[in-house]
Amino acid sequence: MARAALLHLLRYRTASAAAAAEPLSAFRCLMTRSNSKTPAAGIKWAGFCRPFSSKAALNDVIGNDTDSSVAVMEPQEQVDPFSLVANELSLIATRLRSMVAAEVPNLASAAEYFFKIGAEGKRFRPTVLLLMATALDVHIPELSPPGFGDTLTIDLRTRQQRIAEITEMIHVASLLHDDVLDDADTRRGVGSLNAVMGNKLAVLAGDFLLSRACLTLASLKNTEVVTLIATVVENLVTGETMQLTTASNKRFSMEYYMQKTYNKTASLMSNSCKSVALLAGHTAEIAMLAFEYGKNLGLAFQLIDDVLDFTGTSASLGKGSLSDIRHGIITAPILFAMEEYPQLRAVVDKGFDNPANVDIALEYLGKSRGIERTKELAMKHANLAAAAIDSLRQSDDEDVIKSRQALIDLTQRVITRNK
Ligand SMILES: *[C@@H]1O[C@H](CO)[C@@H](O)[C@H](O)[C@H]1NC(C)=O
Ligand SMILES: *[C@@H]1O[C@H](CO)[C@@H](O)[C@H](O)[C@H]1NC(C)=O
Repeated sequence: MARAALLHLLRYRTASAAAAAEPLSAFRCLMTRSNSKTPAAGIKWAGFCRPFSSKAALNDVIGNDTDSSVAVMEPQEQVDPFSLVANELSLIATRLRSMVAAEVPNLASAAEYFFKIGAEGKRFRPTVLLLMATALDVHIPELSPPGFGDTLTIDLRTRQQRIAEITEMIHVASLLHDDVLDDADTRRGVGSLNAVMGNKLAVLAGDFLLSRACLTLASLKNTEVVTLIATVVENLVTGETMQLTTASNKRFSMEYYMQKTYNKTASLMSNSCKSVALLAGHTAEIAMLAFEYGKNLGLAFQLIDDVLDFTGTSASLGKGSLSDIRHGIITAPILFAMEEYPQLRAVVDKGFDNPANVDIALEYLGKSRGIERTKELAMKHANLAAAAIDSLRQSDDEDVIKSRQALIDLTQRVITRNK
């Protein structure tokens, strides 16, 4: 683990050994050389924030930097994770749109709602899954020489794409249902489906997407994968129900919160990553590493989401949508703040129907290390995800290396994002 962590830090050319223990606020933006082959991606990358510490600390770990630029190791090809799989992503988007077609016009337009061009979201999950497929050494088939392509490989890659499609359908179904439960008005910058077409149709559209996901899953004819994905759906319902609990011994327990977060968010990533590995016939050990990556990435993602609900795009408290606390949902920042200020418990117990109570809670949160500790926990999980990728057997294949790098880069993007 220590070695993997060090390798990880070195890979980022970052690193004092203390970096992992530093609060996220100590992170700065590292300007990297732009990639001459793909200047656009390079420019995008240049503004990307990564953890790094003073040059002196850097020298301590990897020896003196003779070059005046920040890069001390062989500059690696900078790749944008999303552009690496852009072609396949649009293929998947097209397929998703045709998969959710329904005979009943109302159902069709409801189901299509978030698959329409422009409303597809970041496609974070399909991106991860496609990168994982390559990272585990399955190539994107060359389309050019017809008849020469390895049909088995093409078939496998297509099956792995199905996992990405199933995952996206389950994800969107859960968003539709979430929005009904939360009475949300907007989603992805447009009116939420429940707001536009009503709760009934939103629930049915979610169910419809789940049923289409089941059909696609069945077509893969792999019972182990069916079990994993069925577990995801069960976990989603479990997590959502756990979030409704009012029993204070559970609501105020960090352990319960992490279990809920796994069920509600991380299970989909972990089990779909594992499915991609199993379809390729990888060993249980490799499947477990894929699972660990997805689980820890999912946990880090949700922890940062919970921070952003308080801070929004700015770094200051109270600038987020505050939707969790207003719905009485107690997340990690408040749980950590409560450890420091037990008085906060009485405030939370009163509920947040009264906005003044929200302000009091925010005041406690502001004095506490709640936000900081949540970010540290997110970083811990992001590093565990990266360590899972580092534990894969070394490969000389350029595509495999690039995809692994992109997966590791995603772990950093997840914790440094501000939206
Ligand atoms: C290496 O770095 C240290 C501290 O940053 C400095 O004191 C020392 O002179 C450097 N050595 C060389 C050989 O550059
Ligand atoms: C998912 O939720 C169940 C029910 O509370 C819990 O027992 C389980 O530990 C959770 N899973 C994880 C991995 O936390």
